[in-house]
Amino acid sequence: MSAPESVHRRARELHQQLHEHNYRYYTKDDPLISDAEYDQLLRELQTLESKYPELDTPDSPTRRVGAAPLKGFGEVRHEVRMLSLDNSFTDDELADFDRRVRERLGEGKVEYAAEPKLDGLAVSLLYQHGQLVRAATRGDGETGENVTENVRTMASVPLKLAGSGIPDELEVRGEVYLSHAGFEALNRQAEAEGQKPFVNPRNAAAGSLRQLDSAITAQRPLEMFCYGVGKVSGGTLANTHMDILAQLQQWHLRVYDDIRLVSGVEGCVSYYQRYLQQRQRLPFEIDGVVFKVNRLDQQEKLGFVSRAPRWAIARKFPAEERESTVLGIDIQVGRTGALTPVARLEPVFVGGVTVTNATLHNEDEIRRKDVRSG
Ligand code: IVH
Repeated sequence: MSAPESVHRRARELHQQLHEHNYRYYTKDDPLISDAEYDQLLRELQTLESKYPELDTPDSPTRRVGAAPLKGFGEVRHEVRMLSLDNSFTDDELADFDRRVRERLGEGKVEYAAEPKLDGLAVSLLYQHGQLVRAATRGDGETGENVTENVRTMASVPLKLAGSGIPDELEVRGEVYLSHAGFEALNRQAEAEGQKPFVNPRNAAAGSLRQLDSAITAQRPLEMFCYGVGKVSGGTLANTHMDILAQLQQWHLRVYDDIRLVSGVEGCVSYYQRYLQQRQRLPFEIDGVVFKVNRLDQQEKLGFVSRAPRWAIARKFPAEERESTVLGIDIQVGRTGALTPVARLEPVFVGGVTVTNATLHNEDEIRRKDVRSG
């Protein structure tokens, strides 16, 4: 039986309302209605869809719950290669990067977009006429895995873009990650179910996204921030990175709200310093910041070498240091009978993992460092 026009109309209304509430809650972090009211709207739509399956379209807000399990992931060839980033570990290396950029461009000072470097995994979203039609992992940069059904379950990824001026085909790229709170909740659950906990948020995010059963992914609190575009056709985008991010945001894609335009290497260094201080207070893990030449004409002029653009660089944070207390020293007997002293530590979370032991190597080393219980 096909649905009467009045039911179609109601389904369209519910789609629109649910997409909007979803966006307000997960992307803007500013909900308009209570969870219970949201659930009621969702249930009403689910009831209509189960009665009239023709209403269950790929952009339906009910698709957030996952689809039938897959036997394996299909492959996706990236038409525009997904590049990696060169790293810098000191201010000098950053200054070298800026100097090379200025020399190649013949400019005195260059403007950069400064962004946090999220520690998750890169994902590509393909929108055709505003509808999400495909999502893929980065893979080796040329070929990734088709994770469309899994990404559809992620509340911060719009199934349908909002607004106007959207190119016919728009590939958006960004990082899928788990917040600290999401990671801890997931590990509490794993422990309660007697499963092995994940070692860090990044592994947990990757494991959650690469589930053949998208209903499992739907239970995982994955989030995504968009930081760029890939293939664009049938329309044009703005001519600076910052303006493109603003466009993505207008179309309801989630973009981090403290991406700043900075001037020259001084601007880059002060953004880096601020994030180094702020790092511990962020709700998610970052392993550095990224600087991208803002003007697209300049990006084009710079081009890329092998796997990384010449117009962007990551400034990585130093390895994290934390203090803890030695609870005791045990002697570990290895497979070959070698004896190794090991410090048992008060558990401490550092660099994304909980550390409970540290090798002390040998007796000389213990003396030299004067490591003692307490
Ligand atoms: S841009 C053209 N921006 O870092 C450059 N990447 O080490 C392509 N990442 O594969 C990446 N935050 O997974 C870019 N704000 C950001 C990022 C970011 C995290 C990841 C991304 C990339 C890896 C490279």
